[in-house]
Amino acid sequence: MKPLFFFFPLLITAFAACVVEPELHPSPEPERMHAFSDTIDGKSVDLFLLRNENGMEVELSNYGATIVAIRTPDKNGKIEDVTLSYDNLTNLRAGKSYFGCVVGRFANRIGGAQFTLDGQEYTVPKNDGDNALHGGINSIDKQVWKARKMNDAVRFTIEIPDGANGYPGKMNVTVLYSLRIDNSLVIDYTATTDKTTVVNLTNHAYFNLSGDPSKQILDHVVKMRAKQFTPVDSSLIPSGELRDVKGTPFDFMNAKSIGTDIQQPDEQLLRGKGYDHNFVLNASNEEAAVEVVEPRSGRKMEVFTTQPGVQFYTGNFLNGTEKGRGTAYQFRTGFCLETQQFPDAPNQPNFPSAVLKAREQWKGQTIYRFSIQR
Ligand code: BGC
Repeated sequence: MKPLFFFFPLLITAFAACVVEPELHPSPEPERMHAFSDTIDGKSVDLFLLRNENGMEVELSNYGATIVAIRTPDKNGKIEDVTLSYDNLTNLRAGKSYFGCVVGRFANRIGGAQFTLDGQEYTVPKNDGDNALHGGINSIDKQVWKARKMNDAVRFTIEIPDGANGYPGKMNVTVLYSLRIDNSLVIDYTATTDKTTVVNLTNHAYFNLSGDPSKQILDHVVKMRAKQFTPVDSSLIPSGELRDVKGTPFDFMNAKSIGTDIQQPDEQLLRGKGYDHNFVLNASNEEAAVEVVEPRSGRKMEVFTTQPGVQFYTGNFLNGTEKGRGTAYQFRTGFCLETQQFPDAPNQPNFPSAVLKAREQWKGQTIYRFSIQR
């Protein structure tokens, strides 16, 4: 018989493996899985879970390539969802506020719902007054994507037909969500087309880092590396101007809470009913474009991106009609940081081009990294 100490190294290795090895294929809770699974037009809709060694979790649906939940620890280790989200697929499908989904092929607004490309005029559906918003009705946020689960990532793909919602070119879009050990949720986007078209892809997650989505987000402290923003007209279409933030309520170069200036009688704030504006990002590759801290929970979120702009939207149109997590989401209970091309870029010669040509590939990456600030 072998002496007991012979087994010790084996036992220690086995114990260490239990403690530090990531769970390669975690599954959502059976009830959650059930609430978010269905077959739509013969296509299977499933819920996918990513979990890392710190207990951070991200739930994803291939309906709209949607972030259904992001659960991160607060300063006491309490893990809570930091997004506004629905409790089931029925509500996700019926949702009108774009919670957590990928929007495109042209996120944000196109003024007058038309643009000219290579001398040809295109008319797209008006779904926001006279303007087009987030790719139009029944766009990719309301479609079932193909899904592939990997160890620490989920890849969603969709083909947008040529002419869908009036946009030219068959477009293939891939969105890869990866969860890293440093509590980063990395989103990699790629798009290709067979005809010249326009592209603007983003994720529309709403965050409330307090973990309590019945609370307003006004005490979240924001620092944004943006020296300019793009002012808008009364229908939220940019004028084309890049305006310095200095001396305006749009200056987040030094950290300040969202509530500091939001009530100021500023024309731009009145038009957006709060912040609902594109900021021109100046961060270098290694720097976070935006940092947000919720002081009570200590949760911090940093946003890194390859995109030129970010729509900072403070949930000004939330009015209690969207429900989930035991609450009706009210005015300003969530904020979005939608990394993007500039709104209305197809009609704005001064803005970075959002044109994608046949056989070219558009790539973008955005990282939401979570940590604690004590
Ligand atoms: C827009 C808001 C809009 C929200 C939900 C944001 O990207 O900027 O004006 O209300 O999306 O549609």
